[in-house]
Amino acid sequence: MKRTFYVTTPIYYVNDVPHIGHAYTTIAADILARYNRLKGSEVFFLTGTDEHGQKVEKAAQEKGNTPLEHADAMVGNFKVLWKKLYIKNDAFIRTTDQEHGKIVQDILQELFARGEIEKRLYSGWYCLPDERFWTEKEVEDGKCPDCKRPVEYITEENYFFLMSKYQDRLIQHIRENPLYVLPETRKNEVVGFLTNNQLGDLCISRPKQRLSWGIPLPFDDKFVTYVWFDALLNYYSATKYLAPHINVQSEEAKGAQISPLKSEDWWPPDHHLIGKDILTTHAIYWSTMLMALGLPLPKNIFAHGWWTIEGKKMSKSFGNVVDPHKVADEFGADAFRYFLFREVPFGLDGDFSEHALISRFNTDLANDLGNLLSRSLTMIEKYRDGIVPEPVPGKDRDEFEKKIKAWISDPDSSIFRKYDSSLSRLEFNAALIQLWSFINEINEYIQHSAPWKETDQDILSNTLYTLAESLRHIALFLYPFMPATAEKMWNQLNLPGDFSSLDLASEIQWGRTGHGRKVNKGLPLFPRIDTKKQGKQDA
Ligand code: MSP
Repeated sequence: MKRTFYVTTPIYYVNDVPHIGHAYTTIAADILARYNRLKGSEVFFLTGTDEHGQKVEKAAQEKGNTPLEHADAMVGNFKVLWKKLYIKNDAFIRTTDQEHGKIVQDILQELFARGEIEKRLYSGWYCLPDERFWTEKEVEDGKCPDCKRPVEYITEENYFFLMSKYQDRLIQHIRENPLYVLPETRKNEVVGFLTNNQLGDLCISRPKQRLSWGIPLPFDDKFVTYVWFDALLNYYSATKYLAPHINVQSEEAKGAQISPLKSEDWWPPDHHLIGKDILTTHAIYWSTMLMALGLPLPKNIFAHGWWTIEGKKMSKSFGNVVDPHKVADEFGADAFRYFLFREVPFGLDGDFSEHALISRFNTDLANDLGNLLSRSLTMIEKYRDGIVPEPVPGKDRDEFEKKIKAWISDPDSSIFRKYDSSLSRLEFNAALIQLWSFINEINEYIQHSAPWKETDQDILSNTLYTLAESLRHIALFLYPFMPATAEKMWNQLNLPGDFSSLDLASEIQWGRTGHGRKVNKGLPLFPRIDTKKQGKQDA
């Protein structure tokens, strides 16, 4: 059986258009998905939209549409953006999918039958925009502790999921599984909260008279399901009707006796990627829901940080919401992807500015990477008519070539090992730093070996071969982050195969670049941005 890798993003509300925060998590999932496909795993990368609840109902009303019309009109904004940002998701779930609705109802029925859900008269402070109750203790000066808007005191009958009884089991699970909630600081927050507070039960219904846009409770049609209870279940329901199946008819599957993947094979997910603001709903609500269902918990929930914009909180009222379309149009989707994951560690907050992006673009992409490719190909053209020469054994110039080969193939200290272990911990920026240190070593190697002064033709051939072979490896490691750039490099090096079918383990061996291939030097990958000419702040 092939290894599987299942990664999810939050499902996004369709009350608004996508911004940098949505793009951030979705690109992170795409990087992991692409990397795991390259490593030969069977991958399920799921994203989608959260279409029920108050926020969406209200946004639809404002436009004079039904909620479904509104959702239908908005969902395309996400799909179009994902294409533009080279997101290769395997499925896109909408919580208005009939299949999802049916699964949510089946699960509710099951939990109700098992006594995990109970009807109670409940009074509490209710925040209308956030659609949730707060306790007396949590309310701050009559305001919602989360969004700071006024709360209302409401008494009504509702259905409750008996979440509180799972409190100790959850604490134990988090303690025994150090990778369950990451980063560490966020995990400590969750454990701190759980050990210092009495967990309440979760109100999972909304009376229809107050909110009608939701999945009806199967056991009481006067209520709809609380939007988070419905939304979190997407991660599970999608495995039942959207997850990929291996085609058993394929030659590969027949030869390797691979059986088709069943929906059970996808559960549990490897990573739920989320923003830090929705950690409680995932680490507490979702975990206890799964415990009540008797399902295994995900292997990891990773809460990333938030982007501020030029030092300020991003908000519509400041008019500083970053439109990923605009950034991708101006700088290219790959440069945007690179910036987001190079600039700050995934778990921390970061600051976005055009100035910082241009600075990374000019330094890391135009200078370090772009120049390395164009100088190397220019020399292969100039000294060998564009043909990658055959390396000549025993004719390395000095120790430098040996070092380069070790960085590629030494089993313990290769860049692959370091890159792989960084990505397995979701340390995207560390993986890129590893890769860039290799890129810069190769730039230094060119300076050091000075092919333009070399008179020994065998040594020159080896240098040019070493450059071509190093560039091939760089393209492989760039691919998860910058797929279009990696493909351009692959084409300029005139290498066989394409990334959708390459197998990383066999590719990361020294010497796979066949000699005798003619390179196709193309346009520069990243033409330097002249900030003076564009009237931009100097980078
Ligand atoms: N629908 C829920 C998620 C349900 S998952 C079962 C939701 N949707 S959302 O559209 O509001 O998603 C917002 C996502 O964007 C969250 O992960 C949030 O952390 C993220 N971000 C919102 N603003 C952000 C920044 N300024 N920076 C980074 N991410 C941010 O929540």
